[in-house]
Amino acid sequence: MHNYLKTVSVFIILAMANVAYAGNGMWLPIFLKLLNEAEMQEMGMKISAEDIYSTNKSSLKDAIVHFGGFCTGEVISDQGLVLTNHHCGYSNIQSHSSVDNNLLKDGFWAKSHSEELANPGLFVTFIESIEDVSKKVLEGTNDKMSIKKRQSIIDKNLAAIKGGYRLTEFQDVVIRPFYNGNQYFLFHTLTYNDVRLVGTPPESIGKFGADTDNWVFPRHTGDFSLFRIYAGPNNEPANFAKENKPFTPKHSLPISLDGVEEGDFTMVFGFPGRTNQYLPSPAVEQTINSLNPAKIEIRDKSLKILDKHMRADAGIRLKYASKFASLANYWKKWIGERTGLISTGALKKKYDLEAEYEKNAPKDYKYLVQEFKEVYGEIAPYALARDFYSETASRNIEILRQMGSFKRLVTAYEENGAEAYTKLLPKYKPRFERFYKNYEPSIDQEVFGTLTKHYVESLDSKFVPTSLSDEYMRKNQMDYDQLANDLYTKSNFPKKDVMMRIFSMEPEVAVKTMKEDPMYQFYIDWNSLYINKISAPYNSHKIQIDSLQRLYMKGQMLTFKDKRYWPDANSTMRVSYGKVNGYAPRDAVRYLPFSHVEGIMEKYVPGDYEFDVPEKLITLIENKDFGQYADKTGSVPVCFLGTNHTTGGNSGSPAIDGYGNLIGLNFDRVWEGTMSDINYDASICRNIMVDARYVLFIIDKLGGARHLIDEMELVRPKSNIRRR
Ligand code: ARG
Ligand code: GLU
Repeated sequence: MHNYLKTVSVFIILAMANVAYAGNGMWLPIFLKLLNEAEMQEMGMKISAEDIYSTNKSSLKDAIVHFGGFCTGEVISDQGLVLTNHHCGYSNIQSHSSVDNNLLKDGFWAKSHSEELANPGLFVTFIESIEDVSKKVLEGTNDKMSIKKRQSIIDKNLAAIKGGYRLTEFQDVVIRPFYNGNQYFLFHTLTYNDVRLVGTPPESIGKFGADTDNWVFPRHTGDFSLFRIYAGPNNEPANFAKENKPFTPKHSLPISLDGVEEGDFTMVFGFPGRTNQYLPSPAVEQTINSLNPAKIEIRDKSLKILDKHMRADAGIRLKYASKFASLANYWKKWIGERTGLISTGALKKKYDLEAEYEKNAPKDYKYLVQEFKEVYGEIAPYALARDFYSETASRNIEILRQMGSFKRLVTAYEENGAEAYTKLLPKYKPRFERFYKNYEPSIDQEVFGTLTKHYVESLDSKFVPTSLSDEYMRKNQMDYDQLANDLYTKSNFPKKDVMMRIFSMEPEVAVKTMKEDPMYQFYIDWNSLYINKISAPYNSHKIQIDSLQRLYMKGQMLTFKDKRYWPDANSTMRVSYGKVNGYAPRDAVRYLPFSHVEGIMEKYVPGDYEFDVPEKLITLIENKDFGQYADKTGSVPVCFLGTNHTTGGNSGSPAIDGYGNLIGLNFDRVWEGTMSDINYDASICRNIMVDARYVLFIIDKLGGARHLIDEMELVRPKSNIRRR
C-alpha cells in the first residue's frame, strides 16, 4: 500500500474509534444499566448506573429538576439550593427588576433566606420513578387497524391507567409515547411550587456576548442563576407560604474544584425538548430545501427592520432587546442546522440507510420508504404554508400575534354573554399591558408591510386570504406598505390608550368596537383561511406521517437488530454522555475545549450592550484574584465543550464528571453542530457548558456571597479531598 494511503486508513480507524466513544443519544435513565453502563465506565465513569438512577436508594436523579417545565435545574446543597441558567431564570429576574432596583443590570445576592424572592407561578418537578407501561397502553391494538381505532383504544387505556392512581395536589403521573408511539413510559412526578430567587450575576456576565456569541465558541458567558426550593413543615411540597422552610433533598450534587480536562468523561442529565433522529430522507430534504430557508428568510426580513430601529434609538433598543434575542436565537439555529446537515452529508446517510433498509426489512415494512416519499410530497405545500403563516401572522407581526387573545374575549361574549367576558378580561389585561409596554406600532407596521408582501409573493394564491389578494390590492389601488399604513391608522388595536378605554366600556360596546375594527376583520379573514385551507389538510397528512413513522421506527428496530436505539427527546428525563473535546469546523480551524477569563478581556467593549464587563470583574481578573477557583494554568476556566448530545430544554442541565460531581452547567451548542437534532455527527456536534469553577468564582469573589459557597459541598475527586 502507498504510504499516504496507509496513513489515511490509520487515520480513519482512529477517527472511527473516536466516533465509537462519541456521545450520540439521549438515554432513558431506567435502561442505562442494560444499554450504557459498560460503555460509560469504559469511557471513564467511576460510578454505576444504579448511582445515577435508582428507586431503592438516593441517586443522582434525585438532584435533577425540570425547571418551570422549560429548562433543567439541579440541587446543589442540602438546603434546596438550585442552580440553573441565567437565561432560564431571566423572566423571573426581570420581574423583580425596576429602574431603581435593576437586578438584571446589577445582579443580586440574597444575604439570608429572608431576602430570597418569591416567584409566583414558578415550579420545579422531580421524577420519583419511571415505569414501562407499553403493554398496558397498547393492549388491544395492532398494526392492521385504522389509525383512529388504534388511537381510541390507546386513549381508553391511558385513562384507565391514570385513573388507577390516587394523587395528592403535588403528585402526577405523566405517560408519554416513545419511539414514535411504539412504547409508552410513565413518570411519577412531584412538584414544588415555592421556588425563590437566591442569586444572579449581572446581565453583563450572565448574558455576556448576547446574540453575537449565541450558539458559538469560544464562549465567555456566566449563564447561571440560583434559586431555592421551599417546602412545608414536613419537607412536603407546598404552595407559597412565607413560613415554608428550605427543602431538604434526597440528594444534592457535590461540586468539583478539580474540574475536567480534554478527554475526560462527562455526562449531562436533564430534560431535552425535541429531536427527530429517525426521520426518512424526504423529511430531511424538506427541512433543508424548503422549511428552514423559508423561516430563515422571513426572520431575516423582520430582524433587519428591528435592528435598524434599535440602532437608531436607545429607547427602542431596550423595548425590543428581548424580542430580538428570541427571534434571533432560532433564526441563527436554523441557519446552523441547515449548513450542518449539508456539510455532514446528512441526506446521503439517510439514502444509504434507506437502501439498506429496503434490502433487509421484513416484507410488511419494506414499502414504507416509498410511501413516505408520496405523503411528504403531498404535505409539502401545506407544510410550507403553515410555516409561512405561523412565522408571519403568529410570530413576527406583533399585533396579529395578539389577535387570538382579543378574539377569545369576543368569543366569550358571544358564546356565554357579558358575564363571561367580564370574568375573562382581568386575566388578559395584564398580558395586554405587558405587550403594549414594549410595543412600537410604527415598527410593527413596517414589518407587516414587508412580510405580507413576501407571503403573497412566495405562496400559491390558494393560500392567500382575500384581503391580501392581488384582486383586492388592485381594486383598492394599494401596495402592501399602503395597506399596512391604512390598517395601522384606522385600527384601534395598535393603540394602547384607545384599547384601554375600550376595555373600560360596557362589554357589549367593547365587543362591537373590536369586531368592527378593520384589523380584526383582516385577522379573521386570514386566520379562517389558515384553519380551513392550510392546517386542516396539513393535519390530515400529518396523522398519516406519524403512523408511517411509528411503523418505520419499528421496521428499523426489526431490520438493524444490533443497533442501539434511543428514543427521540420529548421533554422527559434523559442522560447524555461523552467526553470533553474540541472540534474542527472547517479547514485549518480547530477549537480548543476550554475558554478562560482572559478571553473576557479580549472581547471587552466598554459601554457595549453585549460586551461590557463589570468594573469589579476587570479588577479581579487583572489582579488574578482567583482564590481556589483557578485550574492548573493559574486561570479560571469559563466555558468548555463536550460531545454530549443535547438540545433545547437541556439548558441548565448539570454537567457531571465520572465521580458524580457537578463540573458545569449546560447552556448551548456550537452553531455548526445544531443539526444534532436531526443528525448527530460526532465530528462537529458539541454542547457548551459553563465551568462550575467560574460559577463559584463569580458567586464568591464578585458577588461576595461566601455564605452560599459554604452551603455547598466542594470536592477534589482527583486529589480525594472533601470540604464543606
Ligand atoms: N442558544 C441558547 C439556547 O437556546 C441560548 C439562548 C439564550 N441566549 C440568547 N442570547 N438569546 O437556546
Ligand atoms: N439554550 C438552549 C436551551 O434553552 C440549549 C441549547 C440547545 O438547544 O442545545 O435549552
